[in-house]
Amino acid sequence: MAVLKGSVTPGEKGISPILVENLWKSFGKQTVLKGLSFEVRTGETFVVIGGSGQGKSVLLKHVMRLMKADRGEVYVQGNPIMSLEQRELYDLRRKMGMVFQESALFDSMTVLDNVAFALRMHTSLSEKEIVMEAREKLAMVGLRDVEKKFPSEISGGMKKRVGIARAIALAPEILLYDEPTTGLDPVLSSAIDELILKMQSDLSVTSIVITHDMKSAMKIANRVLFLFQGEIRFLGSPQDLVESDDPVLSQFVKGETQGPIGTL
Ligand SMILES: Nc1ncnc2c1ncn2[C@@H]1O[C@H](COP(=O)(O)OP(=O)(O)OP(=O)(O)O)[C@@H](O)[C@H]1O
Ligand SMILES: [Mg+2]
Repeated sequence: MAVLKGSVTPGEKGISPILVENLWKSFGKQTVLKGLSFEVRTGETFVVIGGSGQGKSVLLKHVMRLMKADRGEVYVQGNPIMSLEQRELYDLRRKMGMVFQESALFDSMTVLDNVAFALRMHTSLSEKEIVMEAREKLAMVGLRDVEKKFPSEISGGMKKRVGIARAIALAPEILLYDEPTTGLDPVLSSAIDELILKMQSDLSVTSIVITHDMKSAMKIANRVLFLFQGEIRFLGSPQDLVESDDPVLSQFVKGETQGPIGTL
């Protein structure tokens, strides 16, 4: 494993699961991330909130190196992900699961095959075991009787849950969720919150969860980061978040249309 370098120092309990250091990203003239630095602690559920277009998905994609930083580094379990060779990157990604905002399922595969895909690629389990594993993961997200359907034949909420089942298929140590509850009804949203909490308690997963859903954030977060105009506006406990007197934060948390953030 690569050793941490520069100003990065491992915490008392060892190497952080995720450490973001001075992360910069622009698209053309638009600078989306302006030197972000923060650490996600072992076993915590770290929630990222912020308005639409503030760079939340872009940030998460950097953690998996689905995007390359202009400057800065993301250390995943001490490994500088921007600098890894393909092989090392591949090995590290096996320990990570990602739930994409747009589900990003394989359209030509059934629901079951979508979930089984990583198991077939990365394990030596028998076909029978793979099917059992995949069914178990689908059951965990409350999906039954849809395994033979294709993504085009199920609802948006169901796709979301297949995406979660796929992300947890290899029992990852790190889970990245991009708006896991968006588009789900309140009952399903609560079920996904419960699932995120269960993954944390049963599997000791470290998670980053992006959400717009303040109720969900308050329920699942150990800490919350509020991203605003490419910078960290707040990083702290959910309690401190709701008690903050920052007008930008308070407008966002309360969902008000009047205030410093402005509307369309
Ligand atoms: N591949 C890309 N090429 C160019 N611009 C991009 C790309 N990806 C994202 N952007 C821009 O970066 C900004 C941040 O996008 P991002 O998807 O991270 O927003 P977000 O905070 O996730 O918003 P939402 O809550 O709506 O999902 C947006 O202005 C977006 O247009
Ligand atoms: Mg997004």
